[in-house]
Amino acid sequence: MDFSNRTVLLAVGGGIAAYKACEVARLVVKGGGTVRIAMTPAATRFVGPLTFQALSGAPVLTDLLDPASERSYGHLALARAADLLVVAPATADLLGRLAAGLGDDAVTTTALAITCPRLLAPAMNTRMWENPAVRENLATLRSRGWEVVGPGAGALADGDVGEGRLAEPVEIAQAAARLLGPRDLAGRRVVVTAGPTREPIDPVRFVSNPSTGAMGYAVAAAAARRGAAVALVSGPSALPAPASVRLIRVETAEQMAGAVEAELEGMDLLVAAAAVSDYRPAVVHPHKLKKGPGDEVLRLVRTPDVLGGVASRLAGRPGAPVLVGFAAETEEVVAHAREKLRAKRCDLVVANRVGAPGAGFGAGETRVTFVTEAEPVELAGSKAQVADALLDRILPVLDARRPRPAGR
Ligand code: CTP
Repeated sequence: MDFSNRTVLLAVGGGIAAYKACEVARLVVKGGGTVRIAMTPAATRFVGPLTFQALSGAPVLTDLLDPASERSYGHLALARAADLLVVAPATADLLGRLAAGLGDDAVTTTALAITCPRLLAPAMNTRMWENPAVRENLATLRSRGWEVVGPGAGALADGDVGEGRLAEPVEIAQAAARLLGPRDLAGRRVVVTAGPTREPIDPVRFVSNPSTGAMGYAVAAAAARRGAAVALVSGPSALPAPASVRLIRVETAEQMAGAVEAELEGMDLLVAAAAVSDYRPAVVHPHKLKKGPGDEVLRLVRTPDVLGGVASRLAGRPGAPVLVGFAAETEEVVAHAREKLRAKRCDLVVANRVGAPGAGFGAGETRVTFVTEAEPVELAGSKAQVADALLDRILPVLDARRPRPAGR
């Protein structure tokens, strides 16, 4: 089971099956993943937090009101870091509190803040499992998008025989791996450009634009999560490097072109999400310019076209990398994007209308159109969703153009 580049948040409930959660943690770590642990107070009575700390290599969140643990690893940080939440064992009490939306301990409070997929592994006595209150709570959680694995049937710890046994750790880990989604870019080399460029005028001034880099960073993160080796060539951005992505920081268009050039070897896919400045000042003054009494004229010259440069050399050749461009337009979005598609010999252009509400620079949610020679496809969602949808669309083109060598 492959968990590389994934963070699983394992929330442990207070039942006798809590000891089996240790094996779930171990399977995630064995699969190359990161596991983080939150425990209910009752869970700590069955298995010591130290055991989970040793297995996960990180502090265990047990007490929301302990200033030290909240400072070192708060529930919100834990919720943010997770790609998947697994609750194992999910006891009858824990199901009830999750369904009610309570936030009375480390597990329930973290669960309230979670936005990633969520998996429950219930475990309890058969008669409790069959109780309508438990069934209703489970139905409520399912209707809110929680997935469920198990329980299995068999001999229970209390001597009863029937349904209610925690699913086997390997089944829980398999369900987790399934929910984390495909690793369909394993063995692929992806280069992403992101952010603005800065073209200096003098040591303290530059020509730039308000790109935050969010779209490119989302594509890089999604490609890495799906197994690709990703180089992210980024202009100045406040965003942190996504997990398992090689971040190459640049400032100018020229540096960006040079950095991409150095990554061409074996590149399967180039996603050019950067808002590269098309012009730079013709002269870069070595000292800070002093203002004069009158107006000033700034002469600008063209910068290298990073995407266009790669396209003119490689596009159309057998086994050429797949090229994706971006187009920010204020009007005639699809028509202009199609021009770009042809001019830059791209396989797909992601067009968005800048200036429209909910689109363009910096907005968390975005509305884009995937433009190819076929019918344009419109899409709205978070940048992470758009990134995954883009990779979904590109995957068949990639597999047709650059078949994977056996074993990749
Ligand atoms: N691009 C690039 N290098 C440049 C300029 C743009 O790699 N010097 C890439 C962008 O990352 C994006 C696409 O090309 O993928 C944008 O195309 P472009 O025609 O440059 O967009 P605009 O500058 O918005 O075009 P125009 O001014 O023609 O509307």
